[in-house]
Amino acid sequence: MSPAPRGLCWIAMLFLLQVHFQPRISAQEPATNSRYEFREEHDPNGIGKFYLGREIAHVMGHPAAIWLERPEREAEERLTLLTRLLDLKPGMVVADIGAGSGVLTMRMAPKVAPGGKVIAVDIQPEMLLLLQNKLSREKVSNVELLLGEANSPKLERESVDLILMVDVYHEFEFPYEMLQNMTQSLKPGGRIALVEYRLEDPRVPIKLVHKMSEKQAVRELTLPEWNLEHTETIDKLPRQHLMIFTRKPSQP
Ligand SMILES: C[S@@+](CC[C@H](N)C(=O)[O-])C[C@H]1O[C@@H](n2cnc3c(N)ncnc32)[C@H](O)[C@@H]1O
Repeated sequence: MSPAPRGLCWIAMLFLLQVHFQPRISAQEPATNSRYEFREEHDPNGIGKFYLGREIAHVMGHPAAIWLERPEREAEERLTLLTRLLDLKPGMVVADIGAGSGVLTMRMAPKVAPGGKVIAVDIQPEMLLLLQNKLSREKVSNVELLLGEANSPKLERESVDLILMVDVYHEFEFPYEMLQNMTQSLKPGGRIALVEYRLEDPRVPIKLVHKMSEKQAVRELTLPEWNLEHTETIDKLPRQHLMIFTRKPSQP
């Protein structure tokens, strides 16, 4: 199939999967709703819930995992370059939040060995099962699977050197609560690497609510309570921002 019709097929298939296989959205908790705004008129690809002016996107259902595994992804997202830019070292503990079928986890695990590990977190057990099958098949032993909740990845305090989120933060139903746990889980000097499709670039062929501007991401991740510094934005990937946030030294 030529590239253009194949692209259209992917879009049509993803649309069908989005419509028919939405993961369960957890009940809204009254105590946390004041941080969020709900609007009746909204983008059909969003859930009608807004955080700091941004509409939250639908979670990508597990039947669409095939899209995460598409062969053209390397050219479109330069995953090898992305993994290199993360500056991984043996011994590091990395959390891949919203790991999906584990495309990034599988690339990172050998780079933190020996002595290090990747904690792959997702809210869909079906995604973790796909990853478990890969781990068994390829005999990878330094990956832990963790079933998270919509409002917490349940990471232990000060246990992680690097948190990676690729194409996931924009679909967190509770971004504030997720950041609460994630920032507490960072070791001193630990980093968050946030990868999102560039909203500023209209040529990036992704639905609007599945993209984020650098300005919006920096706004959300540098609220004073997170104690994070925006240390760098690396725009070397064809379609995505790679934004690095570093835990600041704790106040004496
Ligand atoms: C678009 S996929 C990206 C998967 C993977 N990062 C990749 O790039 O191949 C987004 C994933 O994030 C997961 N997700 C959504 N909200 C989550 C949350 N609050 N905690 C953990 N995972 C979440 C979804 O279940 C889905 O598997």
